[in-house]
Amino acid sequence: MLTKIASTTHEAVYQISDPETGLQGFIALHSTRLGPAAGGLRMREYDSAQAALEDVLKLSRGMTYKNAAAGLPLGGGKAVIMGDPKVKKTPELLRAMGRAVDALDGRYWTAEDMGMSPEDMAELARETRYVAGLDSGSHASGDPSPVTAEGVFNAMQVGATHRFGSADLKGKTVAIQGLGHVGWHLCRMLHDVGARLIVADMDAARVAGTVKEFGAQPAAPDEIHRVEADIFAPCAIGGTLNSRTIPELRASLVCGAANNQLAQTSDADILDERDILYLPDYVANGGGIINVAAEILKIENRTPWVAEKLDTLRQTMQRILSKARAERSSPAHVADRTVDELILQEAV
Ligand code: NAI
Repeated sequence: MLTKIASTTHEAVYQISDPETGLQGFIALHSTRLGPAAGGLRMREYDSAQAALEDVLKLSRGMTYKNAAAGLPLGGGKAVIMGDPKVKKTPELLRAMGRAVDALDGRYWTAEDMGMSPEDMAELARETRYVAGLDSGSHASGDPSPVTAEGVFNAMQVGATHRFGSADLKGKTVAIQGLGHVGWHLCRMLHDVGARLIVADMDAARVAGTVKEFGAQPAAPDEIHRVEADIFAPCAIGGTLNSRTIPELRASLVCGAANNQLAQTSDADILDERDILYLPDYVANGGGIINVAAEILKIENRTPWVAEKLDTLRQTMQRILSKARAERSSPAHVADRTVDELILQEAV
């Protein structure tokens, strides 16, 4: 079922094919230097197998950086299944995916990502023990979104200290793009401390909900990045910071939950040139993987463990921003370098 593909950038890459269930996809292990590779399973339609491969390679590399920045003894991996989950997802296909994960003997731990739910993870778990993000079981971690939102909120306070001279977000205007699992919790936390919210989502009901619940001001999805605000929080999809949107930003601080917010690495420099403080996405959103890691690592007393890791993550962000300021460099580059050094240290 698994065919190894040659790679010069990743430790191991496998193509998955199971004609019986229609399962087609990839598993990529970017690095296991810090521990078993961990990262979610994504199911979506791709234009081609090449596009799916490129996605899994990029996402698995991102997980190496995210896990290392969060101080976890985990490497980076990711898996993708090709196909519309609403059409192609069946218990048989999920169980076949479970067998594919199991064949790697614990070198890769999976959990849910786009197109996957805790129920789907339970199906995989019938075939493998290397699965997290379960709703029930001895160390089940459930929905990571509240913890992700908490990490983003902490990061925002650190960013506000650097940008505005105080961690206090009261009276600050935050433009939130995406009101899903994470965006909603973030709205609640910001509302609780007296921040003003401007919000956008493709789903009008979610916008209406935050208007009603938190007194948020609605904005159009294609306008949210350029509304008058102190902070822009991308919490929807990747790539929303790009050569078109960055020149239009009015916020001077960017901090959100979305993965791969920068369309290109060089976009970090464009933000820097505009004196917009960009908080590296994989550090800001590391709360979710901390929550999942407690399940993978079978932590007995998870609440204090997660709280301690979140606090360390806050300090890591603090150090990255201080270093970036001292070096007059983008925090995105400083974060990448910090993790590269950490991985090299472990390798010797
Ligand atoms: P979600 O799928 O629950 O919510 C995303 C929301 O964004 C949806 O309401 C969707 O309608 C909206 N959206 C999509 N495109 C949009 C656009 N162009 N403009 C405005 N709204 C748009 O996802 P979730 O779980 O809240 O995650 C949000 C982001 O954070 C994703 O990029 C995810 O990869 C990332 N992330 C999530 C974690 C978690 O714990 N859920 C952990 C780490 C990262």
